[in-house]
Amino acid sequence: MTKYVIHGGKPLYGEIDISGAKNAAVAIIPAALLVDGVCRIENLPQISDVTLLLNILQELGADVRTVNRTTVDVDCSHIRNARVPEELARKIRASYYLIGALLGRFGSAEVPPPGGCDFGGRPIDQHIKGFVAMGANVDVRGGYIHAKASNGRMNGTQIYLDIVSVGATMNIMLAAALADGMTIIENAAKEPHIVDLANFLNSMGAEIMGAGTDVIKIRGVERLTGGTYSIIPDQIEAGTYMTAVAATGGEVLIKNVIPKHLECITAKLLEMGVDVEERDDAVLVRRTGKLTRTNVKTLPYPGFPTDMQPQIAAVLCLAEGTSVITEGVWDNRYRYVDEFRRMGAQIQVDGKIAVIEGVEKFTGARIQACDLRAGAAMVIAGLAAQGTTEIGHIHHIERGYEDIVRKLSGVGADIRVVVTPDEDKQAQVG
Ligand code: EPU
Repeated sequence: MTKYVIHGGKPLYGEIDISGAKNAAVAIIPAALLVDGVCRIENLPQISDVTLLLNILQELGADVRTVNRTTVDVDCSHIRNARVPEELARKIRASYYLIGALLGRFGSAEVPPPGGCDFGGRPIDQHIKGFVAMGANVDVRGGYIHAKASNGRMNGTQIYLDIVSVGATMNIMLAAALADGMTIIENAAKEPHIVDLANFLNSMGAEIMGAGTDVIKIRGVERLTGGTYSIIPDQIEAGTYMTAVAATGGEVLIKNVIPKHLECITAKLLEMGVDVEERDDAVLVRRTGKLTRTNVKTLPYPGFPTDMQPQIAAVLCLAEGTSVITEGVWDNRYRYVDEFRRMGAQIQVDGKIAVIEGVEKFTGARIQACDLRAGAAMVIAGLAAQGTTEIGHIHHIERGYEDIVRKLSGVGADIRVVVTPDEDKQAQVG
């Protein structure tokens, strides 16, 4: 078993470099399926979700070459296979982007239902609604989603999303880039990674307009050709380190960010008494005094991101007074609360609402990451805690954070990866 061991209570000082955005990378890698020629993708984060997707492309027949630590060349020109291997795809949520990309490229796709973090139900009905409107038949049999364009190529059309969905917006963009005619997505999501996917596709020859607004128009083209593209910095990784500094105190310059993408997080930290100074491509976060309570409601961009909800909760646990969080995106994103309680937090959850009574401090405990962002929040709690915190199931965290231990150690945190014999296996053997 591999776990993080954190001796908490140390303020953080120094600089952290932010990696490329996970949720952009996991759409841009499948988007390479649409391109005839070599796509050079730069600023890829080194995380397990990226490795998995690149492996899936290789299994489909793509030529994937590592150029350096953060750059790969992907050539999907010779792929003839639209059936995605089950074992790899089930491990990752973003495997659903392979449906849109394969439909766009071949007019057919066979993809296992996606995996990923468990927040209650995670339907993909809006993705399917889009594909069907574009002329595909979609059904699930034999453990696979089978999608096929009835006339061999997707047709442009107008699609109104009933729910603002990041995944459905990007998946429909993928299916539409090579479609016959114009696709219009109404009530589209506006996250920075949606703009990044549009910029990637446009740089390869697509005609996508309006990404970043709630109406996106995609004029289908005959062909996309190779090129070079650099992924934007990760808004949520940056936000996670901003909240870490808020929780521990100290002063950290968080570099290689787009401050505009962080405004929703910056605004909350300022309300809580944390100093945040915007630079051109960095933010300086400083906390010396006490934390003040506040309320947070998660919403689609530009609202406060749901992917920062557990991390801001960790900070609110240490703020004076009562704070209220309302989760506005997912049905069940409070599975971390029991672990926080083991560390002394006082949180009551009722449906989508969490009421947090601030406490003086967290105390170290043995806890388990239950999903990616919850795991990151547990790291933050451990950094701020008095005593030693051991966090198990860290594979959740490594799905989305490149080198988290090195980055935090670099600003003075006492965090180590410890490998111990698997207690369950030992018990069975014994
Ligand atoms: N929804 C539907 N039907 C659909 C699609 C979504 O009802 O067809 C609902 C969902 O159940 C949810 C809401 O709409 O209540 C929003 O879901 P969305 O489709 O926007 O989420 P997603 O595309 O599955 C991505 C990120 C998540 C992030 C959400 C919201 C990826 C791979 N995942 O998920 O990121 O929480 O957008 O911003 O991009 C993470 O990085 O930790 C993570 C979970």
